Amino acid sequence: MSRRKIIAGNWKMNKTPSEAVALVNELKPLVANDEVDVVFCVPAISIIPCMEAAKGTNIKIGAENMYFEESGAFTGEIAPNMLTDVGVKYVVIGHSERREYFAETNITVNKKVKKAFEHSITPIVCCGESLEQREQGVTIDFIRQQIKIAFLDVTADQAKTAVIAYEPIWAIGTGKVATTEQAQEVCAAIRVCIGEIYDEATAQAIRIQYGGSVTAASAAELFAQPDIDGGLVGGASLKPDFGKIVNYK
Ligand code: PGA
Repeated sequence: MSRRKIIAGNWKMNKTPSEAVALVNELKPLVANDEVDVVFCVPAISIIPCMEAAKGTNIKIGAENMYFEESGAFTGEIAPNMLTDVGVKYVVIGHSERREYFAETNITVNKKVKKAFEHSITPIVCCGESLEQREQGVTIDFIRQQIKIAFLDVTADQAKTAVIAYEPIWAIGTGKVATTEQAQEVCAAIRVCIGEIYDEATAQAIRIQYGGSVTAASAAELFAQPDIDGGLVGGASLKPDFGKIVNYK
């Protein structure tokens, strides 16, 4: 099965709204490519202006986080219908930075994934091991646990449309990209795990990205792997280089 590639930028806590608009305008011509899905996940306050700036282009604007309740006394959080109201179709869930600094757990990730599907938002579900876990040889076990809990009570039809981002924590923002073999090995293991939870059709449909220090130099080889369906890109998504990553072929 040939899966459509999805290349997403994760802007993290960078760019003011006016800088964000300028960046969308700068990258617009560079990321033109109708053969892949291109998503810019931007800070919540920049979603609306970026949507305006990206109108008429192939760029989809996504969110970096979302809460798992509909509304109410959750100061500072963003509800799913706030995202859908402005046309958001993608949301990053469970990024390792959110797990590390904002106490997200596999359980809250699962709640958010289910809530995103309820609102027809595609979750980009993040997983990834620490350096210590890799050195201890528990990478695959750890990732399987993250995936199994993230997809608890998610139906096969929903899972087929999900995106999983495999991001080894030791490779994020460090310039230390995983080797192509390491990235492919874990992405393949994630696909096997999805096949065990659901079935082969679901495993073949779900899209799995690699993330962690992806650059224009490493993108082509990574994205050519059989189980890597694109990338989640941090640092390089804020630069013209992102155009090269999107047009990696
Ligand atoms: P990086 O970040 O590309 O800067 O390593 C990736 C991510 O955290 O999504």
